[in-house]
Amino acid sequence: MRKTVIGLYILSALSFSHIVSAKNGGSNKLFYQDHGHWEDNHGNRGHRLNKMLRRIIKSNNLTGDPMINRNVPDIESPKAQLGMDLFFSKTLGGEIDSACVTCHHPVLGGGDNLSLPIGVDADDHDILGQGRTNDYATTNPEGGPPVPRNAPTTFNLIAWDKFQFHDGRVESLDKTPGANGSGVSGIRTPDSTFGVADPIAGNNLVQAQARFPVTSNEEMKGFNHTQYTNQTIRELLAGRLAGYGDESNMLIDLNHWLEKFRTALANPEGSAEELITEQSVSMLIAEYERSQAFVNTPWKKYVQGNKRAISRKAKKGAL
Ligand code: HEC
Repeated sequence: MRKTVIGLYILSALSFSHIVSAKNGGSNKLFYQDHGHWEDNHGNRGHRLNKMLRRIIKSNNLTGDPMINRNVPDIESPKAQLGMDLFFSKTLGGEIDSACVTCHHPVLGGGDNLSLPIGVDADDHDILGQGRTNDYATTNPEGGPPVPRNAPTTFNLIAWDKFQFHDGRVESLDKTPGANGSGVSGIRTPDSTFGVADPIAGNNLVQAQARFPVTSNEEMKGFNHTQYTNQTIRELLAGRLAGYGDESNMLIDLNHWLEKFRTALANPEGSAEELITEQSVSMLIAEYERSQAFVNTPWKKYVQGNKRAISRKAKKGAL
C-alpha cells in the first residue's frame, strides 16, 4: 500500500515538470495539457491549431470536396439506372452465377464484407457477404482461396485520376487531375503493353476497369471457356444480352435488355447489334459506379467553416 502511494507521487511530479518545461518552450508549439486540451503557449485552447490548419488549407486551395469540377452522373439518369441493372445482373457471369454486385454491394460499403471474395461456384449464388461460401478445392484448380485480393469499394471511383486496381494495372497515361482518366493519351490496361494505351479501353478509368472482371475465371467467367480471348468473352456476353451470336448462349427473354438499352441510349429504333455492345455495357456500368459519390465528410464541413466538425486529434493528424 505504502509503495503504491510513493509511486503515484513520483509519477505526478514527473508529469508536472514535463508540462512546465514544455510550456516554456518555443513560441509556436502546441502542448497537450493533462485536462485533455491542446493549448498554445498563451493558453489559447484549439485556437492556434485551427489557425495552422486554415493556413495549410488556404495555401493548398483545399475545398474538402473531391467532386468539385467533376461531372457526377445522377443515379436517376437512364444511363446510371441501366448500369445498375447490369451491375446487379448475373447474366454477365460466364456461368450466370456471379455479378459485379456479388463483391461490390452498396449496402456493404461498395465491397463484400469478406477478407477474400468468393465469385463463381458459390454454394448459394444469391448469398452475399458473410455466409457466402464455396469449396475451394473443386473451384480453384490451383488450390487456395478463389480470389487472392480483397475487393475494394466502388464508392468514389469518379475521384480517381491515375489508376484502378490495387496494383494500378488500369492506368491513365495522362493522369490529369479531375479527368478520371479521360485524357488524350488514353488508358493502359492488361490487354495492352505496359505504358501503351489500349485503343478500346473506353471513356475513363472506371469504364476501362469494368471490362475486366467478366474475363476473370474466379470473379465472373468460371473455369470453362478457356479458348477465348478477353475481347471475345466480352462480345459473347454482349451477344447474350442482345440475342445475337451463339444461340446456345441466349437468354429466354430476348427483348428484356433491348428495350432498356433503347431507353437509356435514347435511341428507340436502334437494333440490338447497334445498341448492346461490349463498349456500351461497360460504359453504362461505369456511369452507375461513377454516380456513387459519397463525400459529405466531417473534413468537408471543417474546410467549409465548421470548426467543431472534426476532433482535435484529427486536426493534429492533418497538420
Ligand atoms: C468475385 C468478386 C468480384 C467480382 C464479381 C467483381 N469484382 Fe471488382 N474487384 C474484386 C477484387 C478482388 C478487386 C481487386 C483486384 C485487384 O486489384 O487486383 C476488384 C477491383 C475492382 C475495382 C477497382 C477499384 C479500385 O479502387 O481500384 C473496380 C472499380 C471493380 N472491381 C468493379 C467491378 C465491376 C464493375 C465488376 C463487374 C463487371 C466487378 N468489379 C466484379 C472483386 C470482384
